Amino acid sequence: MIVLGVESSCDETGIALYDTERGLLAHALHSQVAMHEQYGGVVPELASRDHIRRAIPLLKEVLEKSGAGREQIDAIAYTQGPGLAGALLVGASIACGLGLALDRPVLGVHHLEGHLLSPLLASDPPAFPFVALLVSGGHTQLMRVDGVGRYELLGETVDDAAGEAFDKSAKLLGLGYPGGPAISRLAEFGDPHVYKLPRPMLHSKDLNFSFSGLKTAVLTVVKNQVTNICEQDKANVARAFVDAMVDVLVAKSVAALKQTGLKRLVIAGGVGANKQLREALDAAATRKHFRVFYPEMEFCTDNGAMIAFAGALRLQRHPEAARRDYAFNVKPRWPLAEVTGA
Ligand code: KG4
Ligand code: ZN
Repeated sequence: MIVLGVESSCDETGIALYDTERGLLAHALHSQVAMHEQYGGVVPELASRDHIRRAIPLLKEVLEKSGAGREQIDAIAYTQGPGLAGALLVGASIACGLGLALDRPVLGVHHLEGHLLSPLLASDPPAFPFVALLVSGGHTQLMRVDGVGRYELLGETVDDAAGEAFDKSAKLLGLGYPGGPAISRLAEFGDPHVYKLPRPMLHSKDLNFSFSGLKTAVLTVVKNQVTNICEQDKANVARAFVDAMVDVLVAKSVAALKQTGLKRLVIAGGVGANKQLREALDAAATRKHFRVFYPEMEFCTDNGAMIAFAGALRLQRHPEAARRDYAFNVKPRWPLAEVTGA
């Protein structure tokens, strides 16, 4: 079965073809980062309009790269939520329009389920069950994953998401959007001993997170500078921020493994691309004897491959989940816990 995946929940248009026999056939992505950069964040209306412009050329690119013809597509999976309503509507309408034209069924996929299952696309995929740390721009959650559609929420952020804290702190430091990669790069030049930022909820004895205080701590340091903050000091703050963030994410992940008795940890979502986080998790894995699995770098941030893949896994188990009425709705807010079905 060949499934076409369409991702348009935020600022990346992603299209991919996944074959349940042969694996990922091709994928293509357009990032809107350069367009939103000048506004310091994603402008929803611009995002929607750009998805409209990009989707069909990307589809053509994917068909060409894969060597497959349109008629070989068996089903179409699209991101139904969560995300920006207008952006989601573009992907949903393109998926349903294609479904109608090709007479193929369509299936709405949960964006976070795509992220959660994306490490299974790697060459050395984890077996179920595992603990997943989902760290993206909109979400920070620890889940127990027993199989496709078998997700138990263990803990989540009570305020900002990890990626959001990266982005907001980067803005305070005058760095570009998105802030994650920018802070991470700058932190490499920072002195770890100059600033010590709080590790929110590190000892809360549960698996929840809180990052808004960390962002406020960055604001306080920046405000306390009498003159404009110099480049080296920016790097020192970036380093303190990354160290605090990484400490909390690693400690809570280790606690989740301990609580569940599991030995496999999967990292998913944009912040999973972070170099310092990966280094710290790898070190903890060696120390504490667990294995950590990451998606391929290109599938850490939003992409169509994870949606095609999650759609294919769902359709293999529930062929009846795909629909042919082509009436669609999107779910800008959609808790992953509502997604079930083994
Ligand atoms: O998963 P994603 O592409 O989109 C959402 O579903 O939110 O994640 C985007 C987030 C942004 O907040 C971005 O700053 C962060 O992931 N990010 C990073 C890195 N690359 C992306 N954060 C830290 N270090 C990185 N290298
Ligand atoms: Zn995402």
